[in-house]
Amino acid sequence: ERERTLAMIKPDGLSGNYSQKIKEVILQSGFDIVQEAVVRLDAERASVFYAEHSERSFFESLVKYMTSGPVLAMVLERPDAISHWRTLIGPTDARKAKTSHPNSIRAMCGLDSEKNCVHGSDSPQSAAREISFFFGDVKSVTVEHDE
Ligand code: CMP
Repeated sequence: ERERTLAMIKPDGLSGNYSQKIKEVILQSGFDIVQEAVVRLDAERASVFYAEHSERSFFESLVKYMTSGPVLAMVLERPDAISHWRTLIGPTDARKAKTSHPNSIRAMCGLDSEKNCVHGSDSPQSAAREISFFFGDVKSVTVEHDE
């Protein structure tokens, strides 16, 4: 079953010129890039995107990081897209990624547990919310047939 996920290249990934390399990995891994947009988040939008982390000690720093420059949001599609993309990017902490998942995207371009250069939705519910956050609600279309 084909599935969609929201992938994001964070400000450090874009400013470090990793987008081309990351897109090569995406396409070589059998994803279609269905939609993409370069977006500059303000503090309010970044806070909404990461609302589930609003009580965490790192929240303020996370919002600062995510508003430090533009991000590249992408809708990726393939079978099992959500877990496949999460596997490709590697663990949240890019320092761990470098030792335990050396071929992961975060090992390539991340720095630590905050500046980890990419994001991936963690569930079908998150994917739906995050895709509509960046690209709006895409309602399914019902085609009616005359018999
Ligand atoms: P992401 O997968 O986009 O989801 C939440 C983000 O919060 C995460 O990547 C990191 O950028 C950040 N984050 C998660 N854990 C920590 C942490 N312990 N310290 C700082 N930032 C974190």
